[in-house]
Amino acid sequence: MKVFSNTAISLDGRINTREGRFHFFGTPRDHARMSRLRAEADAVLVGGATFRNWPHPSLPDAVDRKLLRGRPWNVVVTRTLDVPLTPDFLGEAAIRPLFLTRAASLPKDFPAEAEGWSGEGAHLPVGWMLEQLARRGVERLLVEAGGDLLFQFLAADALDEMHVTLCPLVAGGRAPSLADGAGFDFADLRRLRLLGAEQEGDELFLRYAAIGKGGNR
Ligand SMILES: NC(=O)c1ccc[n+]([C@@H]2O[C@H](COP(=O)([O-])OP(=O)(O)OC[C@H]3O[C@@H](n4cnc5c(N)ncnc54)[C@H](OP(=O)(O)O)[C@@H]3O)[C@@H](O)[C@H]2O)c1
Repeated sequence: MKVFSNTAISLDGRINTREGRFHFFGTPRDHARMSRLRAEADAVLVGGATFRNWPHPSLPDAVDRKLLRGRPWNVVVTRTLDVPLTPDFLGEAAIRPLFLTRAASLPKDFPAEAEGWSGEGAHLPVGWMLEQLARRGVERLLVEAGGDLLFQFLAADALDEMHVTLCPLVAGGRAPSLADGAGFDFADLRRLRLLGAEQEGDELFLRYAAIGKGGNR
């Protein structure tokens, strides 16, 4: 399975402001690129916090929908399953919602497709998430999660590519970043290779391949 992420960050690496409400950092050009990446994916995955901020379908814009290979899965990863279940998400015929959660959080009458992790610990392992998607035929996964889940994908060496839009903004403060979690020590820093960089207006569109561990080389 090819796994790629897409994130719009401020110059200081933040993905939102300290207020935490839903904001889009990028311009319409960034939005158009996001739309094309969504059109290339069989599944778009977010974490519970990102979904609570935007509990709506993740679909390409109408102009790109013809590129879809089928109805994309919209995957929400959540320990608590304390997420809004909006009619426009559950009832959108163009997507297939899927919730990945702990077995203990999953009620029998949950109104959407869901898988419960019954192993030890509260964290669903990234490998288990990918298994659930591979079983459903997913070959191209777009991760649109925040820094909590993105860190876990990086730590599991489960990301092939990262698309990062560097936006001409500074957020500061206690705001989530591209990768949060426990953080890496120097020897474990995840290293990436720049595959492409394009400037449009004041934004830089960067595409990286993840190549594993290692500080300065
Ligand atoms: N600028 C951008 O491109 C961009 C992209 C995405 C998000 N954002 C913003 O980033 C912020 C959210 O950041 P975040 O890092 O908190 O979001 P996140 O990684 O998308 O979501 C974190 C949540 O995901 C669930 N989760 C994480 N790891 C899990 C695991 N191993 N097993 C089960 N559940 C797990 C938990 O949900 P529960 O709490 O439900 O249990 C956790 O609270 C929001 O403000 C959002 O708008 C910005």
